[in-house]
Amino acid sequence: MNRLNPLVLGIETSCDETGIGIVRGTTLLSNTIASSMEEHARYGGVVPEVAARAHLEELVPAISAAVAEAGIRLTDLDAIAVTSGPGLAGALMVGVGAAKALAVALGKPIYAVNHLVGHVGVDLLRNGADDADEPLEYPTIALLVSGGHTSLLLVRDLVSDVELLGETIDDAAGEAFDKVARILGLPYPGGPEIDRAALEGDPKAIRFPRGLSRPKDMALHRYDFSFSGLKTSVARWVEQRQDAGEIVPIADVAASFREAVVDILLTKAVAACVDLEVPRLLLGGGVIANARLRELAEERTDAAGIALRIPPLSLCTDNGAMIAALGAQLIVAGHEPSSLGFGADSTLPVSDIQV
Ligand code: KG4
Ligand code: ZN
Repeated sequence: MNRLNPLVLGIETSCDETGIGIVRGTTLLSNTIASSMEEHARYGGVVPEVAARAHLEELVPAISAAVAEAGIRLTDLDAIAVTSGPGLAGALMVGVGAAKALAVALGKPIYAVNHLVGHVGVDLLRNGADDADEPLEYPTIALLVSGGHTSLLLVRDLVSDVELLGETIDDAAGEAFDKVARILGLPYPGGPEIDRAALEGDPKAIRFPRGLSRPKDMALHRYDFSFSGLKTSVARWVEQRQDAGEIVPIADVAASFREAVVDILLTKAVAACVDLEVPRLLLGGGVIANARLRELAEERTDAAGIALRIPPLSLCTDNGAMIAALGAQLIVAGHEPSSLGFGADSTLPVSDIQV
C-alpha cells in the first residue's frame, strides 16, 4: 500500500446523498454525487426508507462514474473508506455493506470513518482554491451545519483528537430552514428559498428568539444550539397575522428568521474560539451555502481576529470525497485498517474518528 500518497475511494450514504469520491492523498480526482432530495420534497424532509432505497439504486452507477472520471481502475486503489456514522441507520447500512463487499472482492483494506470528521478533513482537498497552499492548522474550531447536524467541534488533530463542544438539542439548523419554509408556503429544501426571499426583507423587522442564549442556558449549554423554539415562534407570529386577516410579510419573516439562526450560530462559534483561545474557525455542511451566514462569518471573525476557512461549497455538502480524504489521512498517519466486524452506527460519537 502507498502510505505516503494513498489512492482511496470513499463511500458516503449517511443521509440523502449517495457520494463516491476518489482522492490521491490530498488531491481530489473525482466526486460523484447522486441525491434523492427530489423524492423527499413532497414530504418536506428526508424519509429514511426512501433514502436507503435510493442509495441501493445509485451506488453502483456512482462508483462506475467516479472511477471513470478519476481515470483509474478499481484494482489500483490502496484502500476503501466508508462512513460508519453518524446518520440514518438504514442509509448507512447500504454504504457499509457495499464498501465491505468491494474491499473483500478487491482484497483491499477498509477504513470505517466518522461522517462529521469527514466534513473537517475535506478542507485538505483544496486543489485550485485561492488559499490552496495554506494547510489547515490545528487546533481549529469547526462549525458543521446541515439538514442533519449542527455541531461545534474542537479539532486538535484530524486523525487522533476531535472533541464535541456542543450540538443541537432538537432540530438541526438546515431542518429549521426547511420547516420555516414550509410554514411560509415555500418549497423544500427551504434553505435556498429562505435565502432568496430574505433578499427583499428587513432582518430587523421581527426580533425572533436566539435559542439557548439566556445566562441560565449559557451556563449549562454554552456551545449547544436549539432551533425548535425559534420555529414555533415563527409559526405563532405567522398564525397571528393570518388570523387577523393580514398579509404575511414573507420577505421580512424570512430575513428575520435567517438572521436569528445565523446570529446564534456565529455567536457561539466565535465564543468557542475566544474561550478556548483558538483563532481559527472552519465551516462545513450544506447550510454554509447561506449567503448571510458567510457574510456574517467574515464580519465576526474579522472583528475577533479569527482566521476563517470555508471549503468550496461542492465539498461542504455531503460527499464521498470527504470520506476518502479522511481515510487517506488515517493511512498517512499509519493507522491500521478497520476490522470487517464494524457496522453502521447512527449515533457514532465524533471522538470516534475511525471505527
Ligand atoms: O449538507 P446537506 O446538503 O445535506 C443534508 O444535511 O442532508 O444540507 C442540506 C440542508 C437542507 O436542510 C437545506 O435546506 C440547507 O442545507 N440549505 C440551506 C441553504 N442551502 C441549503 N440552508 C440555508 N441557506 C441556504 N442557502
Ligand atoms: Zn453531513
